Amino acid sequence: MKVVVLCSGRGSNLSALLDAESRGELPDADFRAVLSDQEGAGALEIASKRGIAAITVPVSDFFGDRAGHERAILEALAPFGAELAVLAGFQRVLGRGFLDAFPHGVVNIHPALLPSFPGHMVWSKETAYGVKLAGATVHFVDEGVDSGPIICQGAVPVLETDGPDELSARILKVEHRIFPAAVGWVTSGRVSLSGRTSLLSGFSPGPGEVGACLVWPPLDA
Ligand code: GAR
Repeated sequence: MKVVVLCSGRGSNLSALLDAESRGELPDADFRAVLSDQEGAGALEIASKRGIAAITVPVSDFFGDRAGHERAILEALAPFGAELAVLAGFQRVLGRGFLDAFPHGVVNIHPALLPSFPGHMVWSKETAYGVKLAGATVHFVDEGVDSGPIICQGAVPVLETDGPDELSARILKVEHRIFPAAVGWVTSGRVSLSGRTSLLSGFSPGPGEVGACLVWPPLDA
């Protein structure tokens, strides 16, 4: 399946995807292009180094014109014929016209256990709230803010000594495990939806493998 990846920042989740592909773990994913809405995003350099097309469509050129920005992104991506778009740290809400351009949909990773803590600055909100479990969610994207059907979640403990930086670092490790796994399931056609519940077929995780729910580190470790 032809895939494009959209990023806004440093690109560690992009690296996790491309590393998994290099290890042969994503045989059905064909990464065609990486696009950023921010000039100089680290993700662009990561893509270029791997020989993947790296494109910038700066959001700053489209002040107050979200639909125009989305149209420009779609135009830039059109030559790659993508069937799936993957958001790896892409910090924009997308409209229906954009979402409908990808026959297999749009998948996002969010650094919280949705539906808790959608939006920005989640690690500060979580530590301020005093939650004991945090984590990450991979989900299909709809027009809302982090509100589409959930594919996979990974949970991590929140320690009393955690500030936002410690917590985000722990969550990022679980992101790098669940994101390639979920993208692999989608590209191999193993994820279907029943209402807003995702169903995973033909896969039962063995020891150390990621299932639709991952607790990391394991609670009995
Ligand atoms: C990741 O933590 C990702 O979950 C988050 O941005 C970070 C990007 O890091 N995504 C969102 O907040 C989406 N609303 P990365 O550039 O190193 O992958």
